[in-house]
Amino acid sequence: MKNISNQDITFKDKKVLLRVDLNVPMKNGSITELSRIEKIIPTIKLLLEKKAKIIILSHIGRPKGKFIEGMSLRPISKKLETLLSEKILFYENIINENTLSEVNKIQSGSIIMLENIRFNEGEEKNDVNFSKNLSKLGDIYVNDAFSCSHRSHASVEGVTKFIPSYFGLQISQEIDALKKITSEIKKPVTLIIGGSKISTKINIINNLVKKFNNIVIVGGMANTMLKHTGSKVGKSICEDNCEFLIKEILDVSKKYNCTITCPVDVVVSQNIEGHGKNKNINQINEDEMILDIGPNTINNIKEIINESNTVLWNGPAGYFENPNFQNGTREIMHAISNKTINDNIFSVAGGGETVAAINKFKKLDSFTFVSTAGGAFLEYLEGKSLPGIKAINKNV
Ligand code: 3PG
Repeated sequence: MKNISNQDITFKDKKVLLRVDLNVPMKNGSITELSRIEKIIPTIKLLLEKKAKIIILSHIGRPKGKFIEGMSLRPISKKLETLLSEKILFYENIINENTLSEVNKIQSGSIIMLENIRFNEGEEKNDVNFSKNLSKLGDIYVNDAFSCSHRSHASVEGVTKFIPSYFGLQISQEIDALKKITSEIKKPVTLIIGGSKISTKINIINNLVKKFNNIVIVGGMANTMLKHTGSKVGKSICEDNCEFLIKEILDVSKKYNCTITCPVDVVVSQNIEGHGKNKNINQINEDEMILDIGPNTINNIKEIINESNTVLWNGPAGYFENPNFQNGTREIMHAISNKTINDNIFSVAGGGETVAAINKFKKLDSFTFVSTAGGAFLEYLEGKSLPGIKAINKNV
């Protein structure tokens, strides 16, 4: 794999388009979790040492080609500036005929960050002209955003067709670790999957059922499973019209001998700021929402973790931001980290919210590997070839 530490690549005085993932969680304009920012620092430092002119590209949120005030990268550029102790120029427009002259003003060994790349209409469409115009801003392209590499977008895939393209340090580390895990995976394998991005992950589960021994479904996705298998879920976050998909998951899991585990009890409240009440899944009222898994479910999950040799985890079990609903996520995390330390099993956690949860409880060091990626991590586990990675492997 050709990455930026390769001595044959000359970066001195070159304009380097550096794609990173600064899609960090924010609350009231403040960044609530820093992992994705911290992880790109080694790549930036190396490029600064090599006297490159760094042009940082990233997205945050899903603005769909429109300028949205609350999705500006400006506060994140300020945070990165502090963490790096380096000045970062911020270019606040979308990419237009003036961008090149602005970018050309920066000196070797300095940094400019462009505004949210998804404010540009051509980004998510992977538009050829937009990709070409983007490529003209740099001499070299570097992808250090493993967590975006499942997206065929201009700043991830399209741009690589026009300029020499390489991997950054962080993406190389993620690919190496996940390659090792998928090639050396030891059965029984358990995937614990949760979080709120329901429709995207439900398809992934359908594919992973064929490879894994256990799939434990928690969080928002579990609500959808519960609703479609006959439980009342009140006003919980949940998706409609998934009957067919869920039936398919249950049928395929039987065929491939994969056990699907869903919550048998939960913690409910009338709103996310409230206090929790334990309930069995057949006791939920219309005005209640599920915000965590209950003690019996936690015990079931602990037993499964105990019998596993590999545990993969993506997505918290509940609304862990409120301490009243953090118990399920915390218990899963402790069970995996204890099993990793005591029995030397393979444990991998991935996804922005999962990393935030592990960070909150200060357990990052007790997993075999923690990936910043969510969707990309799951697609990699499915065995899919990620467009952002494929593009660079072709390019070099
Ligand atoms: C992520 O958070 O998984 C990445 O930043 C990709 O974001 P997306 O799902 O909006 O493409």
